[in-house]
Amino acid sequence: MNILVIYSHPSQKSYTFQVLQQLKTVVEKENWNMEISDLYAMNFQSDMSAEEYEREGFAKTELSIASDVVEEHRKIEQADCIIFLYPVWWSDCPAKLKGWFDRVYSVGYAYKQQPNLPKMKTIKYGLVICTAGHPNEFLNEIGMAQSMQTIMLEDRLGMRFEHKEMIILGGTLDIENVQESHKVVIERLANKIKEYCL
Ligand SMILES: Cc1cc2nc3c(=O)[nH]c(=O)nc-3n(C[C@H](O)[C@H](O)[C@H](O)COP(=O)(O)O)c2cc1C
Repeated sequence: MNILVIYSHPSQKSYTFQVLQQLKTVVEKENWNMEISDLYAMNFQSDMSAEEYEREGFAKTELSIASDVVEEHRKIEQADCIIFLYPVWWSDCPAKLKGWFDRVYSVGYAYKQQPNLPKMKTIKYGLVICTAGHPNEFLNEIGMAQSMQTIMLEDRLGMRFEHKEMIILGGTLDIENVQESHKVVIERLANKIKEYCL
């Protein structure tokens, strides 16, 4: 089993980093492989350059793809399951992760596929895990949970994943109150991954 984690948080002092450590423990217990794209640690370029836009914006697929993007494609092609882990910032993922989608979902690979170009394989399970300051009840009440889910699952994961799910680990402003229940959710993930990927 190959798990790819696209992780986007700048600080190891964060709660989101703790969640990453819990996730690692779950995967190690199962003896699965885990590759992590730690976008801040990699100093991943999230802005699309004018040169890249020549290819992406005008669908000039004969132009070459940046090597860091090709490397992300390689990781995707090896994965059975991709987990996106990040904190909710202004009701979305950090710009770093948004930039990962902008650049890694290159034309011809992730959309507008063509017979002469490598295309993204269908991943068995896509899991979005985000930590959020607001409690889940509030995010549901104001419709924000649904909005975030629509954007991540319907657009960004879309048809590229056979099974997909979003878990909002909410209420982190009152961390003492939610930490244990979050832990239980993470510990149970191995069963879901087995169900969809084995
Ligand atoms: C710039 C910024 C924007 C944030 N926007 C939101 C938001 O829109 N909704 C929300 O529930 N929490 C928001 N938060 C709170 C984070 O989601 C919270 O800090 C995170 O769940 C856990 O923090 P940590 O991993 O950084 O320790 C925001 C935090 C920051 C720093």
